[in-house]
Amino acid sequence: MQQRKITDSVAYVGVDDKTIDLFEGQYDVPNGISYNSYAIFDEKIAVMDTVDARMADEWLANLDAALDGRTPDYLIVSHMEPDHASCVALLAERFPQMKVVGNAKTFTMIGQFFDIDLSARAVMVKEGDTLSLGEHTLRFFMAPMVHWPEVMVTYEEREKLLFSADAFGKFGALDTDEEWLCEARRYYFNIVGKYGAQVQSLLKKAAALDIAAILPLHGPILTENLAYYLGKYDIWSRYEPETKGVFIAYASIYGNTAKAAHALADMLRAKGVEKLEISDLAREDMAEAVENAFRYDRLVVAASSYDGGVFPVMEHFLLHLRDKGFRNRRVAIVENGSWAPSAGRCMRCMLSDMKGIDLCDNTVTVRSACKPETLRELEAAADWLTA
Ligand code: FEO
Repeated sequence: MQQRKITDSVAYVGVDDKTIDLFEGQYDVPNGISYNSYAIFDEKIAVMDTVDARMADEWLANLDAALDGRTPDYLIVSHMEPDHASCVALLAERFPQMKVVGNAKTFTMIGQFFDIDLSARAVMVKEGDTLSLGEHTLRFFMAPMVHWPEVMVTYEEREKLLFSADAFGKFGALDTDEEWLCEARRYYFNIVGKYGAQVQSLLKKAAALDIAAILPLHGPILTENLAYYLGKYDIWSRYEPETKGVFIAYASIYGNTAKAAHALADMLRAKGVEKLEISDLAREDMAEAVENAFRYDRLVVAASSYDGGVFPVMEHFLLHLRDKGFRNRRVAIVENGSWAPSAGRCMRCMLSDMKGIDLCDNTVTVRSACKPETLRELEAAADWLTA
């Protein structure tokens, strides 16, 4: 049972899910994921979000233990995505007197997801509205598109707690011993990355608050050095590179494109590039490749030609980057083609549609396998990348 005290008045009642195969139907979560839920105890009791239906029984056990026979007065619904809101109807039916707090969009979605009439106990809030629980006061701030349109965050004024919805969350169950940064970054760029402008708006609202702790819907509660986490979100949402270095993403059929990618990596290291990561897109985690593309200031895409275009896994990678708003990076292209190479043209076309991409004019073309002339072209690309 994971019910535990966060402060004298706030309990954690969320759950770890370590059996899910793919989070949101597509993301590998080797260390699982937590669905965070909280309860605030005062004259009135507020439950802050529910959890994925997969973990309903465990969550209800945690909540019941925290309630210890009392009845919640309010359920605050920050986000209607089913990893948090699957149990809204279940809780509403269990506690018929409990009011449900959300904004206009929240209640539209509740009507879409559930067959339950909450009209007599819906508390509709908008930007800046407050709800008193007694000594604790909740103030609501809208955070549309971080990560759905109905998202709102809640600031508890007495203890200065920011219930931040998906923002500042990470992959990984709470009992996983790992740093916040890597899995928070992979989570951010793949899930919220498209909405940098909206994250900036939320950060501006947060900057006006005195925050003692951030309580997200996934991952650990953040209580120390909050400027570090806020600073990372600021860099990421402005689409600025976090790390000076090169990420090489390759898609190789028989290994020759992979050899060219590794040869370029060696040349870059020889020229003083200290931070470099290389990924086989067909075999390694696509979400981590997307994360790395955003993390570094330079990117190399290397792929075989295929069916008059580019090898599909590279096309998928570039589509992910386009959809997540990839921009403002220096990019070099390596293609392979035994006859009529087409990958370079295809990758250039996709990258040209992205904002602020500084594309190397010369595409390195591997004709089947690396030869001395190929290595000379790769050396020129390395020079351009390190100029
Ligand atoms: Fe964790 Fe957007 O749901």
